[in-house]
Amino acid sequence: MPWIRACAADELDDGDALQLPTTPPIAIFHVDGAFYALNDTCTHGQSSLADGYVEGSQIECAWHFAKFDIRTGAVLTPPATAPLCTYKVQVEGDDVMVEIPDRE
Ligand code: FES
Repeated sequence: MPWIRACAADELDDGDALQLPTTPPIAIFHVDGAFYALNDTCTHGQSSLADGYVEGSQIECAWHFAKFDIRTGAVLTPPATAPLCTYKVQVEGDDVMVEIPDRE
């Protein structure tokens, strides 16, 4: 599976997120010194989670306030009921890289 460069490691402060214009969009989060990648679109609606509110290792959707665990994609509070897809992330030198699944 191909890896793509998401951003420079120093581009994303701890507690920040950014959206990658992939299909589907992927959100990159920086939490406690580690980087995580999840589907950016909330499983309840079409809200971008990169535009949500990071609280520790949780992301709260800006639309209806469902919360997800950034580390696992698990749903923590409704109204969302389905977890988020997660992606492998690694830092290579100064770059944050994300593994993108092959399309069938
Ligand atoms: S769109 Fe995210 S909780 Fe509704």
